[in-house]
Amino acid sequence: MKYIVNKHPTAIRWFHWINFPLLAIMIWSGLLIYWAYDPYAIKLFGHTFFKFFPEWFYQKYHIKRRLAEGMAFHFVFMWLFAINGLLYVLYTAISGEWRYLLPKKSSWREAWLVLLHDLHLRKTAPPQNKYNAAQRIAYTAVIVMGAGSLITGLAIYKPAQLYWLVWLCGGYKTARLIHFTLTILYCLFFVIHIVQVLLAGWQNFISMVRGFEVTDASTAKIIVKRDNEDGNA
Ligand code: HEM
Repeated sequence: MKYIVNKHPTAIRWFHWINFPLLAIMIWSGLLIYWAYDPYAIKLFGHTFFKFFPEWFYQKYHIKRRLAEGMAFHFVFMWLFAINGLLYVLYTAISGEWRYLLPKKSSWREAWLVLLHDLHLRKTAPPQNKYNAAQRIAYTAVIVMGAGSLITGLAIYKPAQLYWLVWLCGGYKTARLIHFTLTILYCLFFVIHIVQVLLAGWQNFISMVRGFEVTDASTAKIIVKRDNEDGNA
């Protein structure tokens, strides 16, 4: 017999799926702006290993000479990205969903065991409820990264008016470097997130679309039991 288990509230699903195209537009338009002054590279002992970004990349994706277009998109969509992110954090705090999301004391140790399990170096994974320890850390980190992007973005957007924010970020250059680094980290998060979603299977993916999972009795019991425990924690 199959069971239907509620997993993701409607609001979370809306915030999640709205965030995805918004973040994609922010990264794409940010790239159009970055091209106009692209100083970052990975250098070691005076040797440049990688330049963000090589000429062929700009050519291939038609990035060049589109600074004004990039700024126009970036400075409109940043408001939508900020509003969606703030509403998500507010909803998560008020609804109690944060209980499933924030890392617990044990999460740091357990995340290591999850990693070993995912790499097939350990037979069993630590018990989890909605999210495992690695997910708790990754999802919380990506929310903190979102806040970091907004803060550093505002600092480099209006450095004269928001001079105190620039100062808090460690100066204009540091704010820009953090803003850029966070973007690279989103791309890394995205790749790992997609691989994990693919590995977790169809039911896991579709639950982020329709809100529920269809599982067998034993899995359903485990989910309900752990959810109750977590709610009482
Ligand atoms: C870079 C853009 C993305 C970011 C920042 C992001 C972030 C997140 C976060 C923070 C959560 C936890 C949400 C919560 O419960 O409050 C989540 C869950 C999830 N995301 Fe994403 N996501 C992105 C793109 C995607 C894409 C493109 C897919 C599908 C291909 C996807 C599929 C999922 C699924 C299936 C879950 C639920 C995982 C589970 O139940 O174990 N995400 N994502």
